[in-house]
Amino acid sequence: NEDQFKKVIGHAKEYGYIFGSSEIYDGLSAVYDYAQNGVELKKNIREYWWQSMVYMHQNIVGIDAAILMHPKTWKASGHVDAFSDPLIDNKDSKKRYRADVLVEDYAEKLEQKAQKEIKKAAKRFGEAFNEEEFVTTNPRVVGYLSKKAEILSRLARSLESEDLADVKLLIEELEIACPLSGSRNWTDVKQFNLMFGTKLGASAETATDLYLRPETAQGIFVNFLNVQKTGRMKIPFGIAQTGKAFRNEIVARQFIFRMREFEQMEMQFFVRPGEEMKWYDHWKEYRLNWHLSLGMGKENYRFHDHEKLAHYANAASDIEFNFPFGFKELEGIHSRTDFDLKAHEEHSGKKLKFYDPELGENYTPYVVETSIGLDRMFLAVLSHSLMDEKLEDGSSRTVLKLPSVLAPVKAAVFPLVKKDGLPELAQEIIEDLQWDHNVFYDEKDAVGKRYRRQDAAGTPFCITVDHQTLEDKTVTIRHRDTMEQERVAIADLNAIISKDVSM
Ligand code: GAP
Repeated sequence: NEDQFKKVIGHAKEYGYIFGSSEIYDGLSAVYDYAQNGVELKKNIREYWWQSMVYMHQNIVGIDAAILMHPKTWKASGHVDAFSDPLIDNKDSKKRYRADVLVEDYAEKLEQKAQKEIKKAAKRFGEAFNEEEFVTTNPRVVGYLSKKAEILSRLARSLESEDLADVKLLIEELEIACPLSGSRNWTDVKQFNLMFGTKLGASAETATDLYLRPETAQGIFVNFLNVQKTGRMKIPFGIAQTGKAFRNEIVARQFIFRMREFEQMEMQFFVRPGEEMKWYDHWKEYRLNWHLSLGMGKENYRFHDHEKLAHYANAASDIEFNFPFGFKELEGIHSRTDFDLKAHEEHSGKKLKFYDPELGENYTPYVVETSIGLDRMFLAVLSHSLMDEKLEDGSSRTVLKLPSVLAPVKAAVFPLVKKDGLPELAQEIIEDLQWDHNVFYDEKDAVGKRYRRQDAAGTPFCITVDHQTLEDKTVTIRHRDTMEQERVAIADLNAIISKDVSM
């Protein structure tokens, strides 16, 4: 819900996870900076992905292609002609909208009206209430829901046939029927290309127009044969990459869910033509299991198989996650056919075929890709982990129950007091642990307060050095989730932490 989402955003700033970009100048919308804890969480998610996709597969290797690519890349990939969203401006409020999202907002409003009627009736009829029957017979609810279905299908039809005038008409009609913006003065709907343009070269005459890449995938396609030959790869094989992508998104809302500069983690898997559906099913399952391995609850994930497909795909499915604002796309698995490799062959004049020694023939491989937004995964982890807990003594605590493997700081080390040689001993422990783990020192405030700060920052372990440590070389280790404390030997600390936080 909205309150939870606001909490997540506030917490991300307060605990050094995410700041708005160039905040002292009032920021840039939909652009964010990762702070001292955020950069660690992000790095750990990236490594957790890389481990599973690259190191766990003998036939997948990684690359790191440049953000800037030859401009013909984007002509071939279809992005110059087709990577756009319908845009509409409101002449009175000067506000800019994504036309399809605006229509969906109207549809959502109708859904809310229907839900309100249902709730009211449920209250009135009590136990005798039959929701299924009510929804299909109550004229008001039937009206709202059929109107909703009607406008969504008209939107889909108009976009499909590129009838942008009808999308505008639809918005005008809806604004009269159920006002959202309170204004009826719209510009025409036009297609807005989401790629960021830039220039290569110093002088205005010789400069070349370039784009910042809107997806990392194309860096893999253009290198397909380089990697296959130098890595002596045999089909099926995959190429993985993580890196920045840029999209000039029209709607900038929902924090780091939709950003203008973001990071993708993609893997393109090259297969024999005709075998793509087998691999598509395989990667759907494998990627869902990767998510489930983090223990964030099976019920928080679902597949959404696409009916409407992008220009390059013959099958596509999203893994959706239950964000504070509802189930939304977290990752895409796409069967891209031979669209990209064929297009690059055509535009570059270079062959991008694979000689299959088993079949004794040349062919253009088909591609199944898995593509996840690193920032979106970050938001999923952060929003799922943040909770307020009621404790037995009646007090409460804010705790960030991050999967330990992803936590930015693995252990905080405290001297109980700032004297008697305890700070020095704590430093010695840190110097030993820091070879393997990101550890943190804190001596400020009472120990209980320090525990709470680490709970809120998501640190799985707190280690406290006290006077007994001077005598028997043992410390107290406290577990974030259970708040249980145990006495252990300093010599065992590394093994205890490693067991919990290792990939
Ligand atoms: N190569 C395929 C591709 O780029 P996509 O569905 O456009 O497919 C893949 O993007 C993933 O990238 C999405 O599932 C989402 O997690 C992430 N993503 C896309 N646009 C984003 C944005 N503006 N901000 C943050 N993440 C984004």
